[in-house]
Amino acid sequence: MGNPNKAKAESGFMRWIDDRFPATQMVQEHLTQYYAPKNFNFFYIFGVLAMVVLVNQILTGVWLTMSYNPSAEGAFASVEYIMRDVEFGWLIRYMHSTGATAFFAVIYLHMFRALMYGSYKAPRELIWIFGMAIYLALMAEAFMGYLLPWGQMSYWGAQVIISLFSAIPVIGGDLTQWIRGDFLISGITLNRFFALHVVALPIVILALVVLHIIALHEVGSNNPDGVNIKAKKDETGKPLDGIPFHPYYTVKDLVGIAIFLFVFAVVIFYFPEGGGYFLEKPNFEPANPLVTPDHIAPVWYFTPFYAILRAITFSLFGLDAKFLGVLFMGGAIAVLFVLPWLDRSPVLSIRYKGWMSKVALAVFAISFIILGILGALPTTAARTVVAQICTALYFAFFLLMPIYTKLEKTKPVPERVTG
Ligand code: HEM
Repeated sequence: MGNPNKAKAESGFMRWIDDRFPATQMVQEHLTQYYAPKNFNFFYIFGVLAMVVLVNQILTGVWLTMSYNPSAEGAFASVEYIMRDVEFGWLIRYMHSTGATAFFAVIYLHMFRALMYGSYKAPRELIWIFGMAIYLALMAEAFMGYLLPWGQMSYWGAQVIISLFSAIPVIGGDLTQWIRGDFLISGITLNRFFALHVVALPIVILALVVLHIIALHEVGSNNPDGVNIKAKKDETGKPLDGIPFHPYYTVKDLVGIAIFLFVFAVVIFYFPEGGGYFLEKPNFEPANPLVTPDHIAPVWYFTPFYAILRAITFSLFGLDAKFLGVLFMGGAIAVLFVLPWLDRSPVLSIRYKGWMSKVALAVFAISFIILGILGALPTTAARTVVAQICTALYFAFFLLMPIYTKLEKTKPVPERVTG
């Protein structure tokens, strides 16, 4: 039965399964005979941690849905009910809301690793593109989730972001109304965000993660040296610098997962609101369309992009400042998609790139962090200037990349992985 070349168990129950479903074949391909470079470092834990956090979000999300009421009249009270009356409801809710923060922290480190080691470069462009699609879906997921408690910041944050679409010429007004499903943010908006947050986007994210991993296992993992481990194989065809993912990395990852869960538990038990950065203070008051909070800022993981939006205070080429800001904010994310084609360096890893790439990456990371801080603060004239400089540096990192990666002198890459 089936393809005779497929790996199958000799006999017994597993053989019965293998004749009907490629279980042994899949375990070999993705675990016991998936050869991963032996020099993975600290930064390689974040892919698996992203999976752990994703599972956490789905499980706690399902349990929250059991007691949550998706209506403008009942949402806020149902969250309070979960926090006070549902057994361990406070824990489930904090695991989910603080879990969102953990998700972005993990993803930003995962992406930074890819920037450092050139993991987006050929032949891994599709892994990166699927990753970026996940990142976009994740931002939409977090944004829609934040409306659900129907607090002041849920309402006004959504108000600010949705109204950005109105800056688009010609179709802006109709588009905003179509997104809200109403003339203002209402229970109708809440209902559709609930459906997207709980059903549609999680399916999209899960499917993209599957594609991300299939693409990864097709070409093989990169590593901190950027050395292609498939180039040097032993007589049986196994990469000399590779080790089977299972048992070596499954066991090693368990250590990283345990440490992560420990840190996550400390945050949940002692700083679940992160001083107003994970759950903002105005969100402990019910949404009130008649009272605008003094200072509206998104949650920390969106603040770098919010700072870019606010940094554009001028009009250019006949485009008004608001629309230009939206374009810059969108451009800041869009440019990441084409990153694999901007990097012209002959080497992958930052270890062997020249000084220009090193300085550029450091300046980019610092600008991103400064933008993140500025996006959380009210604007002043001086802060706007700093945000404008950091926005320029953010874009310079990408737009000048074809030039500095071509110009600089790289170091010779070793034939085998180091360390
Ligand atoms: C739910 C979100 C995500 C999950 C579960 C996930 C999972 C993983 C896993 C398990 C790996 C292999 C282990 C590792 O290299 O760390 C990986 C590799 C990778 N991921 Fe993700 N990922 C996610 C999001 C992203 C995003 C947003 C990006 C970038 C935009 C990205 C880019 C990459 C790249 C380039 C690799 C290859 C790394 C290498 O071989 O050096 N991933 N991902």
